Amino acid sequence: MSGADLPLVLVTHTLPLEWISSLQGRCLQVTGPVDAVRFDPSLEARLEGAAGILCLLTIPINEAILQRAPGLKVVSNMAVGVDNIDLRACTRRGIPVGNTPWVLTDGTADLAMALLLAAARRLPQASLDAREGRWTTWSPTGWLGADLHGALLGIVGLGKIGRAVAQRAKGFGLRLVYCDEQPAPPELEAALDLQRLTLDELLQVSDFVSLHVPLTPQTRGLIAEGALRKMKSTAILVNTSRGGVVDARALERALREGWIAAAALDVTEPEPLPPDHPLYRLPNCLILPHIGSATRETRQRMAELACENLLAGLEGRRLPHCVNPEVYA
Ligand code: GLV
Repeated sequence: MSGADLPLVLVTHTLPLEWISSLQGRCLQVTGPVDAVRFDPSLEARLEGAAGILCLLTIPINEAILQRAPGLKVVSNMAVGVDNIDLRACTRRGIPVGNTPWVLTDGTADLAMALLLAAARRLPQASLDAREGRWTTWSPTGWLGADLHGALLGIVGLGKIGRAVAQRAKGFGLRLVYCDEQPAPPELEAALDLQRLTLDELLQVSDFVSLHVPLTPQTRGLIAEGALRKMKSTAILVNTSRGGVVDARALERALREGWIAAAALDVTEPEPLPPDHPLYRLPNCLILPHIGSATRETRQRMAELACENLLAGLEGRRLPHCVNPEVYA
């Protein structure tokens, strides 16, 4: 195939070349800036002739975009979550959508544990106090946090990442409960000593609650005022899933008024959370800039997998990881 015959692919962000080396010679790439916050106009102008899109979770792929890309054969998201993509619209057009599961499970579960530990032991506050001269002595009552061992962790959503968190938490001596539409396999429940509860029950009894559900119309606002008021006043909420699962206004009140003790968030709505957002002013709220999968190895594997999905779609093969397999029915 000569260069002119290669299918056109819009890569919404500049990625390290070694992460996407498999695309070399197999498609013609037009690439957006490394820090693109929207579909770059220079890429939008090429939608008409595009056969593939390789995008990040910050880029909405909606009806308006799809309408302008009549020759699109594949959308490949470099993320496991696909809430930025109008799946129905893609499916209606027979366009397979790829995501990058498994490769980020451990990295994200590690970060959930890091957040849990940081919030439980009040690391941000303690570190700031040391840095700013408030470490004047070994204080017997200073910076007291919560024990993990023996405490009860409630896992909301026992998918791949939820299970990986459960395994890690077991190692820290936490007791585990979970809620999920599907019961876990009995071997897993037995191995991790997991008990399945309803969401309401889980919220009432857990010392820590960690969220691991995808963002869907059903899970949007799952943790709103009603849910937060059910939690223990000593509880800590950890969110590494999607910001929209938690109602940020209700959370702010919950943290300010002491309905719960603390929150540790890797995800927010909106993202980025603007610097003047009230959640930043709360000392019991730890906020990270969505770095769950941000390890060198994980991000490279995600990009490689996104390329595998993309190439499969371009070449008319089944995507290795397709979130709308109905397109193949
Ligand atoms: C990250 O949030 C992802 O969905 O991959």
